[in-house]
Amino acid sequence: MTQKIAVLPGDGIGPEIVTEAIKVLEYLNADMNLGLEFEHGLIGGAAYDATKLPFPDATIDLVKQADAVLLGAVGGYKWESLDIAVRPEKGLLGLRSELQLFSNLRPAILYPQLAGASTLKPEVVAGLDIMIVRELTGGIYFGQPRGVRVLENGEKQGYNTLVYSESEIRRIGHSAFKIAQKRNKRLCSVDKANVLECTELWREIMTEISTEYPDVELSHMYVDNASMQLVRAPKQFDTMVTTNMFGDILSDTASMLTGSIGMLPSASLDVDGKGMYEPIHGSAPDIAGQGIANPLATILSAAMMMRYTFNQASVADRIEQAVNMALDANVRTTDIYSEGMQKVSTSEMGDAVVSALQSGEK
Ligand code: IPM
Ligand code: MG
Repeated sequence: MTQKIAVLPGDGIGPEIVTEAIKVLEYLNADMNLGLEFEHGLIGGAAYDATKLPFPDATIDLVKQADAVLLGAVGGYKWESLDIAVRPEKGLLGLRSELQLFSNLRPAILYPQLAGASTLKPEVVAGLDIMIVRELTGGIYFGQPRGVRVLENGEKQGYNTLVYSESEIRRIGHSAFKIAQKRNKRLCSVDKANVLECTELWREIMTEISTEYPDVELSHMYVDNASMQLVRAPKQFDTMVTTNMFGDILSDTASMLTGSIGMLPSASLDVDGKGMYEPIHGSAPDIAGQGIANPLATILSAAMMMRYTFNQASVADRIEQAVNMALDANVRTTDIYSEGMQKVSTSEMGDAVVSALQSGEK
C-alpha cells in the first residue's frame, strides 16, 4: 500500500532539516518496503514569494489528499513587514485549522547524552520525559473578534478573544487522557482559572471528563506556577494538557530542559489520527543556509509520523534508536556541541542517523 506524504519545507532552515528527515525516511522506505511516496509543496514565505499567499490552493489540495504532512518551519525577517493576513505564520495556522489538527503532542525527552547541554543542573533534568498536549485549533489564536480598531478619542486599540467551547475542551481533554493512559497515568491540566472565565470552564470540563478515566490522576495548575515548576522541578510532570497559547509558551520552556530546542519533535493530529509533523523550533533565519541547523527534531518528527499516523511503532522505534546511536557516536551539531565531541553539519548529522540505521538491529 502506498502512503502519501506531503512535504512542506517552508522557510529558513526548513529546507535543510527536511532534506535530512527525507534522507532517513527514504532509507527506511527502501530497506523495509514502506511504500512511502513524497510530494513537495509550498508554504509560508516561500509560498508567498511564488503565489502571494502563504497557504496556496495547490498546497491545500496536496495536504488534503496526503496521508500525512512533514513540515520544516515558516517565517523570516524578509516577510515581517507584510500584512498579518499573508504572513508566513498564517500559512501554518491555516494548515492546522484546515485539517482540524486540534491535538498537538510535544514530547520533551532528555537524551542522557545531552544532560550537560541543558542550562539546568543534570540532576534536575536527568530522566526527563514529559508530554505536552497543546490545543491547536482554538483559543486566542483563532478567536473572533480580533484586530486593531480606532477608538472615539482617536487612540488605537488592539484586541483578541480567548474562546473555548465545551466541545473543543472535551475533544482535547479526551485526547490528553488517552495519551496519559499510555504513559505514567498522571495528567496536569494547565489554566488560568483564577482570572479567566474561559479557562474556569476548561477546568470544569477537564474535571468532569476525568471520571471516565479513573486510572488517570488529574491535577490542575495555574499557568504562571506551571512555568515556574517546569524549571524548578520538571520531573514532577508526566502528561500536561493546556490551551493553544499556554502550550505554545510552555513547550518552548520545556524544550530547553532537554538541552536544545533543536531536539524537539511534534505531532498535530485530527480526530482520525491523520497528522502533520514538524519540529517545534522555528525557521531560525539567523542560521539559515549555513548547514549548521540540528535536523534531529525533524527526524524525530518523522518517527512520530510512523508511530501516530502509520501505526508503525517498530519503524518509529528504529528511528529513535538510531538518533540515540548517533548521539552515542558523539556527533553534535553546534546547538548541542560540548567539548570533546565531534562538531558536524546538518547533512553529516543526517548521515550519522542513516549509518546508525544501517548498523542497528532491525
Ligand atoms: C509553534 C510556533 C507557531 C505558534 C508560530 C510560528 C505561528 O511558535 O509552532 O509553536 O505560535 O504556534
Ligand atoms: Mg511556539
